[in-house]
Amino acid sequence: MPSRLEPQAMPRRDFLGMAGLGSAGLAIFGSIIGMVRLPKPRVLPEASGRFKIGPPSEFPPGTVKVIPEHNVRIVATERGIAAMSLVCTHLGCIVAEAPDGFHCPCHGSRFDADGKVVGGPAPRALPWFPISRAADGALVVDNSGETPSGTFFEV
Ligand code: FES
Repeated sequence: MPSRLEPQAMPRRDFLGMAGLGSAGLAIFGSIIGMVRLPKPRVLPEASGRFKIGPPSEFPPGTVKVIPEHNVRIVATERGIAAMSLVCTHLGCIVAEAPDGFHCPCHGSRFDADGKVVGGPAPRALPWFPISRAADGALVVDNSGETPSGTFFEV
């Protein structure tokens, strides 16, 4: 006679039935959780690539300014203002300014002053970014776009 100290063994058929029900319950529970989470985006949209660099008066001809938080180099000449990326097109290291242009410290790519590749594994030139003017008059760089090398925004 079964007692609390010696419970009756569960028949194999009952055990398999309970295991099957448990598995089905877990699968249904997981599906419901998945359906509830589906409408919520798993990846947040990337922040806009547009950022203000200040009014044109801060960029008289001859000005060279690096915006480190965006890895962008701003150059102002008599032709206007231009923005060029400082991110190496090989694997994304930040290039350093050198007397003959820019050098990448990671794998040795070299770029001339306009960002064109002159050596190393970089597959393409450093991109130039379009510049526009915001409603408040500030200059805006869009580092999600690209403009042909040598394009200056006339102020
Ligand atoms: S990341 Fe610049 S050369 Fe490799």
